Amino acid sequence: MNDKQCVAEEAVRHVQDGMLIGLGTGSTANAFIEALARRYAEEGLRIRVAASSVVSTIKAQELGLPLVAMEHLTSLDLYVDGADEVSPDLALLKGRGSDLVREKLLARASDRFLVLVDESKLVGRIGERYPIPVEVMPFAWQVVLRELERHGAQGGLRPNASKDGLAVTSHGSLVLDMRFPVEMPSAALNALLDAMSGVVEHGIFHGLAGSVLVVSEGHVRTLSPAGP
Ligand code: 5RP
Repeated sequence: MNDKQCVAEEAVRHVQDGMLIGLGTGSTANAFIEALARRYAEEGLRIRVAASSVVSTIKAQELGLPLVAMEHLTSLDLYVDGADEVSPDLALLKGRGSDLVREKLLARASDRFLVLVDESKLVGRIGERYPIPVEVMPFAWQVVLRELERHGAQGGLRPNASKDGLAVTSHGSLVLDMRFPVEMPSAALNALLDAMSGVVEHGIFHGLAGSVLVVSEGHVRTLSPAGP
């Protein structure tokens, strides 16, 4: 069993009969979907799932999990997803893919958000390794970019995979990949981006993680947010 399967197996123990579960996107989320499908088949759990992307929807469908469309739900019991970075205050950076909007909606709507990562995702501050994705309405990208540059950020539009055009999200938005000055804490960045006109969503998940399961060479430990 590899580390992703190992942390997925640990996460699936949090699933109880009757739950509505949100499925994240990415290779670690995929390992969780597989572990969940196995429990569903073996134990006959009466669960339902809602997916954060087309890819996860297809995966869940192929494995026979009972899907609920997002527009039919108001809350979830559990949301399970990976992350690109996790800082010591358990803020997350997500959104290397193109499904930020659904990922954050599911994270917010769930009673508990379980994040699955390996040690390499733990960082000193959000934005340490990756630029912060800022999903923008196509007609707003230049205004938003200028505004972000006024706050000291540097970056630009994300190219598509073949580098011959622009990346377009599943909602038809563009993505600005931005690096911010190191002294800006993630809480301040989160507030800045939340309040900016033309921004559809961004990759900082602040105060949303319920627990972070960290895997290293087959061992899983749990990080929980500090109390108030
Ligand atoms: C997609 C995400 C992913 O959860 C994140 O990129 C981690 O992916 P992986 O588990 O493949 O490392 O945020 O938007």
